[in-house]
Amino acid sequence: MDYFVVEGPTPLRGTVRAAGAKNAALPLMAAAMLAEGRSVLANLPDLRDTRFFLDLLGEMGVRGELDGGTLTLDTTGGLTSTTAPYEIVRKMRASIYVLGPLLAVRGEARVSRPGGCAFGPRPVDLHERGMAALGAELAEEHGYIVARAPRGGLRGGRFRFDPVSVGATCNVLMAAVLARGESRLENCAIEPEVTQLVEALVAAGAHIEGAGTRTLEVQGVASLTPLEVAVIPDRIEAGTYLAAAAIAGGEVRVEGCRAGHMAPILAVLRDLGCKVTEHADDDDKAAAAEEAITCARTGPLAPVRVETQPFPGFPTDMQAQIMAAAALADGVSFVTDTIYPDRFTHAAELVRLGARIEVKNGTATIIGTERLQAAPVMASDLRASAALVLAAAAAHGCTEIRRVYHIDRGYERIEHRLTSLGARITRASE
Ligand code: EPZ
Repeated sequence: MDYFVVEGPTPLRGTVRAAGAKNAALPLMAAAMLAEGRSVLANLPDLRDTRFFLDLLGEMGVRGELDGGTLTLDTTGGLTSTTAPYEIVRKMRASIYVLGPLLAVRGEARVSRPGGCAFGPRPVDLHERGMAALGAELAEEHGYIVARAPRGGLRGGRFRFDPVSVGATCNVLMAAVLARGESRLENCAIEPEVTQLVEALVAAGAHIEGAGTRTLEVQGVASLTPLEVAVIPDRIEAGTYLAAAAIAGGEVRVEGCRAGHMAPILAVLRDLGCKVTEHADDDDKAAAAEEAITCARTGPLAPVRVETQPFPGFPTDMQAQIMAAAALADGVSFVTDTIYPDRFTHAAELVRLGARIEVKNGTATIIGTERLQAAPVMASDLRASAALVLAAAAAHGCTEIRRVYHIDRGYERIEHRLTSLGARITRASE
C-alpha cells in the first residue's frame, strides 16, 4: 500500500496546470455508449477512476484507446454485455452512470448497487425513480439493480430531482435522449460538468433545450453520432492547488482553469485574506481560453463562514481544503456541508495534526491555531485527503499519510505537482 511522506513547513511557489475534470470525464465516457462508432474525448485526466471506468466499459465491449490525454472509445458492433459487476462498482460508485445508456441502447441493465462511502450512504433512488419515469421497470436481485425498458424502448416522461443530484441528472438525461417522445427533467443539477454533458450530447445529435438551466426539455431521437469533446478543466483540482497557497503559504498559479466555474471558491480564498488574481490572456485570441488564476497568501489568514450548496454555490468537494486553511486562521471559522452532513472524516485527522475542530449537526467549528504539527494520518474521502496533504505541507515535522489510493482517484500525480511547487513529498510503499 502506498503512503505519502510529507516534510513541513514548506511554503509553495510556482505554476501547475489543471487537468481535465474527473466529474465531467466519467459521464462523457458513459455517454459514448449511446452512439455506435468511435467517440473521442480529449483532455482526459489520468486517474484511478477513469481507468476503472475504462475497465468497466471494456466489460461491455467498448474498446478504449488512450493516447496521451486523448481517449477513443469504439462501440462499433454494439455493446456485448449489460452487466456492471460488483467487483468494479464497489471500487467506483460512478459506475452507476452505465445504467441510463444501457437502458437506452440495450433496453436492459444489471448494475451492482453502489455501496456507501466515507461520508454517508450515497443513495441512488433518484437514478432509479428517474429511469422508472421513462418507463423502465426496476427490481433488486442480490445487490444488483436489474432494470428493463418497456417493449419498444424507453419512452419520454417527466421527472423532478429532489434534492438536486449531479449523478442522477446525468444518468436520467442519457436515458432520455434516445427515449421515444418528449421528456421534461426539473430541478436538474447545473454543475459545469453536467452542462458539458448536455452540450456534448447536443453536438452528437440529441435534442435538448435548457443547457445550463435547471429544466431540461428533451425530444428523443433514434440515434446519436459519436461524441467529439475536450473535457473541461477540473475546478476542484484547480481550487485545491490554489488553496495550497492559503494553507502552506506562498503563491500558486494554476493554468488552464476557468474562473467562471470557480467563483465561490475564489470568493472564499479572498475571504481568507489571500490575494487572488484572474488572468485571462485576452490579447491572444488563440489562447483566450487559456485562463490562469494566482492565489498568494500575503499575511495571516482570516476566519471564514462557509456553507456548501449545489452549483453555483460553494462546492462540497472543496470544504475539506477550506477547513485545512481555517485551521490556521486567526479566529473561529464555521464550515457547514448541506449536501453531505457527515462529510467530516478529515476533521479528526486534522485534529491529529493539531487543529482545533468540533463537528456537530453538519457544522464544523474551527478555532484557528498558530501552527500544525506533523503526525501520522489516514486519507479517507477522495477530496478531503488532498486537504490532509496540504495541511501536512504546513505542519512542522514529517507527516505520513496512508490510504493514498483515495487521492489517486481524483488527482493526477499529486506528489509530482506539489513537488514542482516546492513541497517535500515522496510516495513510499509498505
Ligand atoms: C457528484 O456525486 C460528484 N461525483 C461528487 O464528487 C460530488 O461531491 C457530488 O456530485 C456533489 O457535488 C461525481 O460526479 C462522480 P449528488 P453524486 O447526486 O452525483 C443525494 C467525487 O468523487 N442523492 O449530486 O453522487 C445525495 O445523498 C465526488 O469527486 C439522493 O438522495 O452526488 C446528496 O445529498 C465526491 N439520491 C445529494 O443528493 C440519489 O439518487 C447530492 O448528491 C442521488 C443523490
